[in-house]
Amino acid sequence: MAMAVTSPDQEQHLSALHPWLLGSPDDWEMWRGKMTTPTRSQVLELAIQISRPISGHIMEFGSWKGYSARIMRDELWRTRLWERRQWRKHIYACDSFEGLAESYEHLPAGTFKTAVPTLRGIRIVKGYFEDSLTPKLAAEVGQVSLAHLDADLYSSTVTALNWLTPLLRPDAPERGKRDAADRLRPLLRRAHERGAHLHIDMESMDSRDAVLELILELLGEDEFRDGPSAGMVLQGYLRDSPQTLDQIVQWLGAHERAHALTIRLVKGAYWDHELVEAKQHGWPAPVFEHKSDTDVNFEMLTRRLLDARAAGVGLRVAVASHNLRSVSHAIAYNRLLGADDTDLELQVLRGLGDPLQQALARLGLRVRTYCPVGDLVAGMAYLVRRLLENTSNDSFLHEQARGVPLDELLAPPRPHDVTAA
Ligand SMILES: Cc1cc2nc3c(=O)[nH]c(=O)nc-3n(C[C@H](O)[C@H](O)[C@H](O)COP(=O)(O)OP(=O)(O)OC[C@H]3O[C@@H](n4cnc5c(N)ncnc54)[C@H](O)[C@@H]3O)c2cc1C
Ligand SMILES: C[S@@+](CC[C@H](N)C(=O)[O-])C[C@H]1O[C@@H](n2cnc3c(N)ncnc32)[C@H](O)[C@@H]1O
Repeated sequence: MAMAVTSPDQEQHLSALHPWLLGSPDDWEMWRGKMTTPTRSQVLELAIQISRPISGHIMEFGSWKGYSARIMRDELWRTRLWERRQWRKHIYACDSFEGLAESYEHLPAGTFKTAVPTLRGIRIVKGYFEDSLTPKLAAEVGQVSLAHLDADLYSSTVTALNWLTPLLRPDAPERGKRDAADRLRPLLRRAHERGAHLHIDMESMDSRDAVLELILELLGEDEFRDGPSAGMVLQGYLRDSPQTLDQIVQWLGAHERAHALTIRLVKGAYWDHELVEAKQHGWPAPVFEHKSDTDVNFEMLTRRLLDARAAGVGLRVAVASHNLRSVSHAIAYNRLLGADDTDLELQVLRGLGDPLQQALARLGLRVRTYCPVGDLVAGMAYLVRRLLENTSNDSFLHEQARGVPLDELLAPPRPHDVTAA
C-alpha cells in the first residue's frame, strides 16, 4: 500500500505511525499473488444472507443485463427453501436501460445501453431514477432490507440514496422518530394537564438512539418546559452507557425545565437479543459479555448519577434493580454524599421484587413498584423477559434462590479480566 502525503499536518501525523503501517511502494507487487478476495457473486450472496432477518424488499439501482439481479434472486430463492418468510421479499431492478447518462472515467455516455432483459421473478422499474423513483413507488415498496447500488455515476447514486433512505428501517430513525413524536406529544400534554409523571421505558438497541433523541427533543420544546414531570431509562449493560449519560447531563445543562428529569438506571432486559443480533450481523456486541462487567459499570453509573445530582444537575435518580448488592451500593453512596435517603428512589417490579420492596419500605426508603397493566397477549413479551430473568444462571434472584451465602451476594463486583487473571 502506498500512501500519498499532501499536507505538512498529515506528514506530522504520519511520522508518528509505525513505518509498517504506511507500507512501501512495492507492497502490491509483493502481495498480489498471495491475496484472496471474494468474488462479486460471493459478496452479493453474503448480502442476501446478512439481510435475511430484516424485513423489506430488495432493490437494485443499475441492473444493465441483470447479471447481479439474477445472482441475488437465485440466492433469495435458495433461502426460501428453508425460510418461509423470505417469500415475502421481492426484488426490484431499477434501470433506464439507456446506459450511462453522462461520461464516467473511461466510459462514454450511453455505455451499458441494452434491451430490457427478461428477469424471471424480478420486478423491473424502467426509467431514469430521477423519473422512476417516485413517492408512489416508495409507497408500494414500503420497506427495504437490502439495496445494491451499482449505477456508476455519483449523481445517479445520490438520487437513489435520497429516495431510499426513508425506506431503510430500522436505519431510518428520522421517520420513526417523527411517527413516535406525533403519538408522544398528546401523551405529554395529557400528563401535564393531569399533573402525572410520564416515564418512557427503553427497549433494545434498534430503537435506543431514536428514543433518546425523541425524548430530549420533545422535552426541550417550549410547550413542555413547565411540565409534565418525565423520565427515561439508562441501560448499564451497554458499553456506551457512560457516553449516553454524558449526553443527558450535557442536555440538562443546556435546558431549563420546571421538573427534574428522572433517570431510571437499569442493567437492561434485552441482553440475549443484543448478543444474538450482533453476532448475526457480524457486529461487535453493544453489551458487556460478562455479568461482572455490567455490575461494575452499573455501580459506576450509580455514582456518576448521584454525583451529578449533588452537583446541581436537574435530575432525579431512580435505581431499578432486584440485586441487593446494586441497591445497597446506591443507598450507601447516596448517604456518603450526605443526601437524604428519600432523595434516592428505588424501583422494583411487581411479582419479582416483592420481598425486597417490603424490606426497603420497612427501612424508610423510598420504593416505587412497577406493575404491568394492559392486554395479556401484548404483554407476553414482558412476561417472557421476566421468565428469562428469573431463570438465568447469572441472575441475582437465581443465585439468591440457590442459597448462595449473603457475603458472596454482597461482594463488590470486579471487572471480568481482573477476576479471570
Ligand atoms: C422497575 C424496573 C423497571 C425496568 N425498566 C426497564 C427498561 O425500561 N428497560 C430495560 O431494558 N430493562 C428494564 N428493567 C429490567 C432490568 O434492565 C433488568 O433486566 C432486571 O432488573 C434485572 O437486573 P437486576 O439488577 O435486577 O439483576 P441482576 O441479576 O443483578 O442482573 C441481571 C442483568 O445483568 C445483565 N447480564 C446478565 N448476564 C450478563 C452477561 N453474561 N454479561 C453482561 N451482562 C449480563 C442483564 O442486563 C440482566 O438483566 C427494569 C427493571 C425494574 C426493576
Ligand atoms: C455498471 S451497470 C450495472 C451492472 C449490473 N449491476 C450488472 O451486474 O451487470 C450501470 C447501470 O446503471 C444504469 N444507470 C446509471 N445511472 C442511471 C440513472 N440515473 N437512472 C437509471 N439507470 C441508471 C445504467 O443504465 C447501467 O445499466
